[in-house]
Amino acid sequence: MSLLTEIEPLKQSALAELRAAADLAGLEQARVNHIGTHGKFTSLVKQLGTLPKEERPAAGKLLNQAKTELEGALAERRTELELKAALPQDPTDFTLPGRRRTLGKLHPLTQVTEDIVRSFRKIGFVVADGPEVEDEYHCFDALNTPADHPARDTQDTFYLNTPNKTLLRTHTSSVQIRVMEKQPPPVRIIVPGRVYRRDNADATHNPTFQQIEGLYVDKGVTVGDLKGTVEFVFKEVLGSDVKIRFRPHYFSYTEPSFEIDFSSSLVKKMGKDWLEIAGCGMVHPQVFENVGYDPEVWTGWAFGFGIERIAMIRYGINDIRLFYENDLRFLRQF
Ligand code: DAH
Repeated sequence: MSLLTEIEPLKQSALAELRAAADLAGLEQARVNHIGTHGKFTSLVKQLGTLPKEERPAAGKLLNQAKTELEGALAERRTELELKAALPQDPTDFTLPGRRRTLGKLHPLTQVTEDIVRSFRKIGFVVADGPEVEDEYHCFDALNTPADHPARDTQDTFYLNTPNKTLLRTHTSSVQIRVMEKQPPPVRIIVPGRVYRRDNADATHNPTFQQIEGLYVDKGVTVGDLKGTVEFVFKEVLGSDVKIRFRPHYFSYTEPSFEIDFSSSLVKKMGKDWLEIAGCGMVHPQVFENVGYDPEVWTGWAFGFGIERIAMIRYGINDIRLFYENDLRFLRQF
């Protein structure tokens, strides 16, 4: 075989070896094997002098081109491997919490909200959001709440001074509608958010407070799923000794509807056996119709509860106003 015909196959096998090197040591070995002082390719270059004079320029040119290509491949693979070597060996989990915060603390309501959200995330719920300034359609009509319902009374709802009856949402249930209008089923969301009602502030009421809404829509969803989900989350947030029970109730957007009571050592401490904690039910077919879901195909449940109430039970707080006064002597305890 003449020198000229050897160049190409030798170059190809050198390139393959350089490119396949798994680490920097392997790359160095490939370099020594081929383009080092005693490498296979180098020995080819050394044979150039043995060629007849007239063949030398063409062979020299080919060898030079091949050498440039090999050196390029070497440099390229070296950069890649150096980058790889500089990365941490164990994959980094970017979802891990950061280091301890150096300044300040989260408000107790934020802590409770985050705990609740974390529990729901474990079982596949995602957080959704919607506007606090709402229209009557999303807050009431689409939720099957008739025009003469007392919730719409100006005694209960803050209306804005606009001709189209814009209002401050009285519950996070409006976000159920906004989400279903935007996406086809299945749906699995929770909605933490601020709501407004025309209550006078006292130990258990405040004109603005926070709720968490949940909505689950799929095929074949049952009350059993609802109960299991609620029980799982309340056990996580309020302790493993939590028991829950459902009592029949009425909400216009669910049928059947229930109120959820719970019992635990925390409730006993408050001198009670059961505390009412949330409303829930199976999504009313009319609500599905209103958002364009086929109620013959889709089933679902929804619930809503107040975050302040959960925080008050959890921390044994007897006055809701403490959460908003921002008295540092209060806040420092959490
Ligand atoms: N919106 C209700 C409230 O503010 C709570 C509620 C009850 C939400 C039943 C729901 C539900 O989604 O199904 O009191």
